[in-house]
Parts: sequence; C-alpha cells; structure tokens
Amino acid sequence: MPHAAWTELEAVARRDADARILDQFAADPDRLTRLSLDAAGLHLDLSKQSWTRSGFETALELARAADVEGRRAALFDGEAVNATEGRAVLHPALRAPEGADFHALGEAVSAEVATVRSQMRDYAHAVRSSIETGATGRPFKAVVHIGIGGSDLGPRLIWDALRPLEPAIDIRFVANIDPRDMAEALTGLDPETTLVVVVSKTFTTQETLANAEAAKAWLAAALPAEGMERHFIGVTAAPERAAAFGCGRTFAFRDWVGGRYSLWSAVSLSCVIGLGWEAFQGFLDGAAALDRHFLEAPLARNAPVLMALAQIYNVDGLHRPARTVAPYAHGLRRLPAFLQQLEMESNGKRVRRDGSPVGRQTCPVVFGEPGTNGQHAFFQQIHQGPQVVPAEFVIVASTDGTTSESPLWANALAQGQALMQGKTEAQAHAELIASGAPDAEAEVLAPHKTFPGNRPSTAILMERLTPQTLGALIALYEHKTFVEGVIWDINSFDQWGVELGKVLARAVLTDVAAGAPSPALDPSTAALLDRLLK
Ligand code: F6P
Repeated sequence: MPHAAWTELEAVARRDADARILDQFAADPDRLTRLSLDAAGLHLDLSKQSWTRSGFETALELARAADVEGRRAALFDGEAVNATEGRAVLHPALRAPEGADFHALGEAVSAEVATVRSQMRDYAHAVRSSIETGATGRPFKAVVHIGIGGSDLGPRLIWDALRPLEPAIDIRFVANIDPRDMAEALTGLDPETTLVVVVSKTFTTQETLANAEAAKAWLAAALPAEGMERHFIGVTAAPERAAAFGCGRTFAFRDWVGGRYSLWSAVSLSCVIGLGWEAFQGFLDGAAALDRHFLEAPLARNAPVLMALAQIYNVDGLHRPARTVAPYAHGLRRLPAFLQQLEMESNGKRVRRDGSPVGRQTCPVVFGEPGTNGQHAFFQQIHQGPQVVPAEFVIVASTDGTTSESPLWANALAQGQALMQGKTEAQAHAELIASGAPDAEAEVLAPHKTFPGNRPSTAILMERLTPQTLGALIALYEHKTFVEGVIWDINSFDQWGVELGKVLARAVLTDVAAGAPSPALDPSTAALLDRLLK
C-alpha cells in the first residue's frame, strides 16, 4: 500500500488542522470552482470541507497511489474484487443500458440481466393492470415485501422517495422478526388482494423465513389451497429454495450482486409493481449516468472520488470518526438508514485485502435524520460539541415543481453556513449587550452562545427528487464507498462481521428450547437469559 502517500496526507492534515475553512476561499480564489461539480443531475459542493488546497492535492495523490483507476477497471471488468468470497461485484451491469456487455469472472451476464428485467416489467404490468390476479380471481391491491438488510433498505428508500400520495397498489415492508412488524403491515389488508414478495439473496435468513412463514399462515387461513401460490413470489439468488418454500414464481439474481447493492435487481420488484416500469427504468438510467461519470471523469473532477477523499481526510487526517447525513427532503428520510448498511457493512473492516491490519481508522459511524427534524435533536452537538462531526446535506430544490420547499433548503444552507462560520465569544457578547442584557449577564451567557465554527460540510443538490436523481444519488454513494475501500485497501464486498452473532443466536435459541442457559454461557448472558426465560 502507498505508505508515503498516507504519511504525506497525515502530515499535511496535521499542519493545516487549524486552518479556517472560510479563509481558504480568499487564499485560494478558485476553491469553489475546483471543489464543486455537476454529475448525472446532481450538483456537489465540497468547498466547505476542511481541506486546504494542499490537503486536497495530497488526498488526490493518495487516490492515485492506491490505483483507484485500476481497481475501478477491475470492478467494471467483473474480476473477483470480492476475493474472500471469490465473486465479481457487478451491480453496474444491472443498470447499464440495453446492449451493454458485462462479464462476471469471464461469463457474459448482460443477456440474463435483460431477461430478468423483461420478466419484472411484464409481471409488474400484469399485476398493475389486473391481468394477474389472486387465488379467488380478484386483482392485487397491496404488496407485502418481506426482507431484511439489503433486501429491505433499498426498496424501502425507493418507495418512500417516489411513491404517489395515494398509490393504486400499496406496498408494505416487513423486516423485523418481532411479530409486531408483520401485524402492523397486515393491518387493513385483505388476503384475497394481497401479494407477498419474499426477498432474500440466500433464502436462509432467519428473520425473513420466519416472516414468510407467518405471511403464509395468514394467507392460508383465508384462501383456497388451489391458487395460493399466486400470492407468493420469491426474489432470490437461490431459486430452488424459494420454490421449495412454496413461491409460485421466482425472480432471480446472481451471486455477483451484493445484498446492499441489490436494489437495482429484482429485489426492487415490489417497487416496480407499485411505481410502474417507467419509473424504475428512470432509476436505472440515473445510476447508469453516474456510472459513466465515475468511469470517465478525471479523478480531480470525479464526484464519488471527491466524496471519498473528503471522508478519508476527515477520518484519517483529522481523526473524526463520525459523519452525519441530513437529507432535506421527506422522501429521503430513509437515506441515513440505507447508508448505514451501505457504508458500515461495506467498510467497517479492520484488515486489508491481504489479511494484515489496516492500522488506521476505516468507516466512520454514519448517522442522520431528515432535515429539519435533526436540527431539533442532535444538531446541538454538531454545532457546539467538542467533537467535530462532518455533515452532509442532501438538498432537493423542489419536490412539487414550485419554490414551496424554500424553508426546507433555506435551513440546509443556513446549517452549512453556521457550521463553517461559527460565532466568536466577542460576537456573542456584543449581541447580548445590543439586545439589552446587562454586562454581567452577557459575561455569563456569552460562552454558552459561542460557536467554534470551522466545521466541515458537503452539499449535494438536485433540482427534483425523480427516479433519475434518486438513482444517481445512490450510485454516487455506492462508488464513494468503493473508492474508500480501495484507498483503505479493504474488501468492501464481504460482511463476515455479521456471522458470529447469527451463530450465537442459534445457540441461544437451543438453550431457549431446552428451557435453561447452557453451562457454557458466560455469567452475564446466562443471567439475562435466565431472567427472560422466567
Ligand atoms: O446479515 C447481513 C446480511 O447478510 C446482509 O448483508 C444482507 O443484506 C441481509 O443479511 C439479508 O440477506 P438475505 O438477502 O440473504 O436475506
């Protein structure tokens, strides 16, 4: 790994750590132009990030030294970039325009992608136009989408972002193994007009299978056995398991589609049913446009690369182990949850591709809430807490084609401004005096009303939240995550860290069945289990 480039980045970040962001605009007149760019219908402004000009250039050097361009080619060429599982990682193939020719480990895949796309389009059309009906001949009015993690978060985000106010076909999502989740989803639904879509790449996930069983029982209690399979659709990379489970029809995808990168595949079938094919095609097109940008733009003007470098500069250069994402659009309220999986499951790793320790911080803690809600919750800490938490504002100019959202984006702009400029104690003191406060009171209050400022943020703007801009936004985050993984030299596409908990949960369930904690359990877990069993 390019050790010298890391040393240089750390040295420059240390040297420039106290540089004021606001001063950089005067010191470096083309800062704004250099650090803002347009890509696939998105506008990015990274000029409020902490880097000085040389900080930015050193970060860029790190990207070059890590061979981002070579690794990017390996990804798009379908090489085994997920080496621990021996798999290609080819989600871009799922959104590429017709006629593309992608290969996964040398095997041509684009024809199969096109086939599944037309299966999805035809099936969704048949459901939407009441050609496809349930066991009793009635058309479907609702879809219950069962899945968890990557089989849930992406489709949920798409649906929330693009759903009509009064959809002809409602989509309900169930992820949690807590029966309450299913109970809420089924409330008010009629089994005769409900389609259940079970989404699981492996078709072995405990939560999803339990929920699918519950849905099956709910349907079976109300429907004739003949034709019940028409209510049960599987989406999976293990079609034989879905068929064995009783799914009447299965839409497949391949192992080169990672769970958290799978929303471009049949995993989003429920959304295609709810929104129609045209919207989903627009979503794919927006992502494909971002793919082209990622492939073609020089590193210094490449949106995912710049976003990745800003994060690495904050995390490894300036030791800031968290980042908040605030989408200023109600439709994007699930974006932080989606990014938590995308980024933290991809890059929450501590060893390099060769198994040796990374030896520095990798993925930060990613958290957030939609704006302006977050402002009235945790933004206090972002403004005045001792830790610096870089912020990301995703701003939609208009969701209804008017300027009626201006209070929304005015707040987003004000937050970025406030974080950067802050307010000195002298200013706070002067304001208190100007508002009539006695000097003694101003002395006491001024420190509380002081904002250190110089806190970084990125703004991502889009004119409208459309299928295209949503697709581009998600692809932007995907490639940003990939570039970070390349620079940290980790495999962003496995997730072994989720396995141990799954194994131990099975062992605990064995103890539950036995009615007592096993003697092998540690004292704390044994006591908790004992209490729960009682
Ligand atoms: O446990 C984590 C995980 O494996 C995710 O990576 C994945 O998105 C999720 O579980 C669901 O997996 P599946 O689609 O196989 O049910």
